[in-house]
Amino acid sequence: MIIGGSASQKLAAKVAKELDDYLCPVETRKFPDGERYIRFKGDIEKEVVVVQSTGYPQDENLMELFFILKNLKSLGAEEIKVVIPYFGYGRQELRFKSGEAISASITAELIEFTGATEVFSVNLHENKVADFFNIPVKELSAMPLIADHVGQVLDDPVLIAPDKGALSHAQEISNILDCPCDHMEKTRLSPDTVETRVKSLDVEGHQAVIIDDIISTGGTIVNASNILKEHGAQSVTVSCVHPVLVEDALLKIFATGVEDVLATDTLSSEVSAITVAPLIADALK
Ligand code: R5P
Repeated sequence: MIIGGSASQKLAAKVAKELDDYLCPVETRKFPDGERYIRFKGDIEKEVVVVQSTGYPQDENLMELFFILKNLKSLGAEEIKVVIPYFGYGRQELRFKSGEAISASITAELIEFTGATEVFSVNLHENKVADFFNIPVKELSAMPLIADHVGQVLDDPVLIAPDKGALSHAQEISNILDCPCDHMEKTRLSPDTVETRVKSLDVEGHQAVIIDDIISTGGTIVNASNILKEHGAQSVTVSCVHPVLVEDALLKIFATGVEDVLATDTLSSEVSAITVAPLIADALK
């Protein structure tokens, strides 16, 4: 049986459909003071799959996930597979400055403590997050799905990673599409300011596609798109796995002349056109 958390209702329904499994109705609401209420409206089976992304509002979605897991356990579920398509708090895997909380580690510990027996996630920002768990963790890659989509809409793409960290993603797609790929150099100056440089880029007259795992404030993509235009790209398309999209991120990106933004539905957004449901369903089979 599949339980969908309130952050991933449509995706949970798609996964249930792919697997031809029962989608359990769940009542989730808030009391007038903001506290959360959860109730499963079906009998709980021994094997359960929970689908819940933990993006914004992270704390609320996590608390709901903890309630779901503990409640499942106390109602007799024995095997609880948790699918967290976008893993919130997954970016602080180290104590960079003394006294900092290692939020990724604490989050992992709580997910395990509340009852998860196996975790599935899509393109973790930091692979180290998987090591914080003592239960099996399966990290899935959405790059083949993105490759498929890019291949359908563009016939001559050149893939560009906006920083070195995204290069492996661009390479994974370029291997599938058999097209060139390159990367830029990025330095983050503050949470919402980045500086981007290039050594050499051959995109003149080509359909450039920027590939990243996350679009948050959009600063990374705005810089990359402007540089690609300066280097004579015929068009610039953007693709990412997790459309976090803080405030007017999309507007800022489109204002640079970007043709389209193609993202997956690990997080719901107006550009979440690529569904990861088949990827998750395959992994659960
Ligand atoms: C950074 O390492 C990530 O891969 C993304 O490039 C980053 O999270 C994007 O953030 P923003 O949209 O705020 O520039």
